[in-house]
Amino acid sequence: MNSDESKPIKKLSTDSYKGVRDFYPEDMAVQNHIFGIWKNTVEKYGYQEYNASVLEPADLYRAKSGEEIVNEQTYTFTDRGDREVTLRPEMTPTVARMVAAQRRERPFPLRWYSIPNLFRYEQPQRGRLREHWQLNVDIFGVTSIQAEVECIQVAYDITRQFGLKDTDFEVRLNNRKVMNYVTRDVFKLNDEQAHKISKLIDRKNKVEAKVFADVAQEILGDVADKFLTLLNSQNFEEFTSHLPQTKEEHEGLREIREVIAALEKLGITNVRFDQTLMRGFDYYTGIVFEIFDKNPTNRRAVLGGGRYDDLLSLFGGDKVPAVGFGYGDVVARDLLETYTSLPKDIRAADLYLCVMNASHFDYAQDLAQKLRTKNIKVSVDYSGRKVGDQIKTADRLKIPYIICIGDQEVASGEFKIKNLVTGEEKLSTEDTLTTLN
Ligand code: HAM
Repeated sequence: MNSDESKPIKKLSTDSYKGVRDFYPEDMAVQNHIFGIWKNTVEKYGYQEYNASVLEPADLYRAKSGEEIVNEQTYTFTDRGDREVTLRPEMTPTVARMVAAQRRERPFPLRWYSIPNLFRYEQPQRGRLREHWQLNVDIFGVTSIQAEVECIQVAYDITRQFGLKDTDFEVRLNNRKVMNYVTRDVFKLNDEQAHKISKLIDRKNKVEAKVFADVAQEILGDVADKFLTLLNSQNFEEFTSHLPQTKEEHEGLREIREVIAALEKLGITNVRFDQTLMRGFDYYTGIVFEIFDKNPTNRRAVLGGGRYDDLLSLFGGDKVPAVGFGYGDVVARDLLETYTSLPKDIRAADLYLCVMNASHFDYAQDLAQKLRTKNIKVSVDYSGRKVGDQIKTADRLKIPYIICIGDQEVASGEFKIKNLVTGEEKLSTEDTLTTLN
């Protein structure tokens, strides 16, 4: 006998873990809609799908993902074999590992996409959770800025399909090469100062202006004012006017100019240089970009990406240039809600068989199976409840058609199909019924 039998049983909570979501059928309909737009679009550009496990060795992220992600945001644990394992917080290190492993066998340029579930220990807030799904689009083996242009074009294409007009959002661009040039060559900062200031700029919107200026002063000393003047430039022209005027334009600045011009040729003009765009990850080496929703309710990056030419070399072997971006489903859903509407077609089936008597279950099951071979989605009510209640269930499940099966239907093989929306009824048999419309 169980000695605990007398203790009251503590009820389990129906809440999900903090910051993660349950996907009820309505939510799955929205998610499938988002994934559908993602997949259709990227496949039109020739991207192939790949996937991997959510578990990765923790070391994979230590090399180049950046301190914030590794120290504060990963779910890391030790497995029974004493290995440190991380629930992947992003897909880029995984895809870099996979491509590096097969770099000799694969034809380049390689265009790959995936929609992984990712986990970050973040403070849950609008647009940011502890779990999300993220479209990853990456192109490997292209050194020219055409790779950036194509990625931004794909990202733009998707964003338009979520209902946004050009005036609703903005593509923001920066270049790691420009930041390196500014911090090292122009301002002669040492590695530690350069690193600290870039992390500070990355947090610009999260700290108060006064705090920002004070910390910048601490890091930069005498040159702080000059640096902040450069950082506060209103546009690309003003920014470059604060830099030393050389005969040849700096490579990083030229790339920005070229990407903006190439996008313009494609009709994408809501693009802006943003010298404060840092992107948290350490692996980016060139152009970095984000798309920003300008709507006051969202006001955050809906996607982010950039060039990371050195990441694959971490796995040994030749260098493989790479560019890509990640687009999250949480913000995608916010966009749909703000700019269009969420999909409403969440019917559980096309047809519901209401069975008036338990002795007709076999007949109903048989009829359902025959109709399924005609590609009709059929669900049978085996509850034995009153037929009115069964019809109510069909209605709540948003199933548009019903057939009530009783003695008469079983004897004659003839039944009425009722459209619950219009009330219309049609007489039919299992042979004459080929489609519901
Ligand atoms: P990321 O900027 O960290 O980049 O994330 C990209 C997008 O994923 C964000 O703009 C947002 O839509 C979504 N996202 C990120 N964190 C969360 C969160 N906690 N909750 C909900 N949505 C989130 C990367 O992850 C890079 N690995 C992208 C990349 C691919 N770079 C090159 N290739």
